[in-house]
Amino acid sequence: MSPKLIIGTIVDSNADWSLRIRENHCIIIDDNGTIVMEGPFSSQAVQQWKDKYSVTEVVELDREEFLLPGFIDSHIHASQLPNCGLALDLPLLKWLQTYTFPIETKFADPQYAQDVYSRAVEGTLASGTTGAMYFATIHRDASEILCDIVEEKGQRAMVGKVCMNRNSFNGYQETTQNSLNESKLFIAGVQARKSSLLDPVITPRFVPSCDQELLLGLGDLAKSSDVRIQSHLSETLAEVAWVKELEPTSRDYTDVYRQAGLLTAKTVMAHCVHLSNAELNAMKEAQTGIAHCPNSNCSIRSGNMDVRQIQKRGIKVGLGTDCSAGYSPSMLDAMRGSASVTCLDRVVGQLDEGFQFDAIRIRLNSKAHPTSHLFGHETIEDMVHKFVFLGDDRNVVQVWVNGRIVKDLGLTEH
Ligand code: GUN
Ligand code: FE
Repeated sequence: MSPKLIIGTIVDSNADWSLRIRENHCIIIDDNGTIVMEGPFSSQAVQQWKDKYSVTEVVELDREEFLLPGFIDSHIHASQLPNCGLALDLPLLKWLQTYTFPIETKFADPQYAQDVYSRAVEGTLASGTTGAMYFATIHRDASEILCDIVEEKGQRAMVGKVCMNRNSFNGYQETTQNSLNESKLFIAGVQARKSSLLDPVITPRFVPSCDQELLLGLGDLAKSSDVRIQSHLSETLAEVAWVKELEPTSRDYTDVYRQAGLLTAKTVMAHCVHLSNAELNAMKEAQTGIAHCPNSNCSIRSGNMDVRQIQKRGIKVGLGTDCSAGYSPSMLDAMRGSASVTCLDRVVGQLDEGFQFDAIRIRLNSKAHPTSHLFGHETIEDMVHKFVFLGDDRNVVQVWVNGRIVKDLGLTEH
């Protein structure tokens, strides 16, 4: 990978969430994938920068194109991609027990894992998801296959081997010791890869699937290994009531995780639709992030999360597709379902000096697009809005992760 210079319109958002549009702008990306320089275009400046940074590749965007930060899916079940659009008539607990858990058992077969995970990573990259926080299944071998695939295809990813030791069925449940041992082996294996784009995540499925002994063990593991944690929290009212029955001595659902050492600044909890005031305060105090999954919350009728209220409290929020309780793996769909977009990890998500270059090149007038008659003569701000509401992966003509090109439709020269 050689240092490259990109010239064109760059759109992102600042920490205050407002849209920032820089027209006729330049950025330089070094061979580590880091943005090392940004500034307004002028022929003279460009020549100086090219010399200073030994630029060998220049990418010039067309007038109707713009660059966006790559999308970050903060909650997606890579193992559930084949189920997208199916079984959405069932409420969460029934959906898990009768539909989702049985299908996840198929990942005992490495061939099946290879096939599903290849398509999951390829498909999400193609739609502009440059970073994803994945749930795999309880199988360590298959979870490692997902790691192989994200490394090979170049996606930035956090991958979790799922932990479950209760309330499932024989064949899709672990003993406590087994779950802890396999988690340790998984984490050590991922860390030994020394990949700057891939991290392991400690992944208790949710409290109904993990007893306190397992949660405590995973909390200790999180402390000793210093890795991130992900789980589900307060998605439906039936689940909240069940947790109350299962853990009668705990103050509330959130407190079960807190007492186990799993509510930390490195934790992402999916959903959080029905949290009480006390629970929201605990989330804020622990600096735990929320993965907001609007499609899933609507599709299986879990409830609506008040994103503005959560943001006002200063709790970190990211967007997730939650496939397949959410039926669409596209982050554009998640954006449409939500009034807000943000990201959890500030090494990406902004196109500025010091950030890693995870970006997507958008072209609205792609001839292959059935709605191309709806595009033309817009301001750049309107182009961004139209892309969010009318666009899809055919408009994502190039994708870079850490400066490396991972998708190229080959439509950029004309
Ligand atoms: N809660 C526990 N497991 C799951 C899952 O796979 N999907 C969703 N949406 N919620 C869960
Ligand atoms: Fe989920």
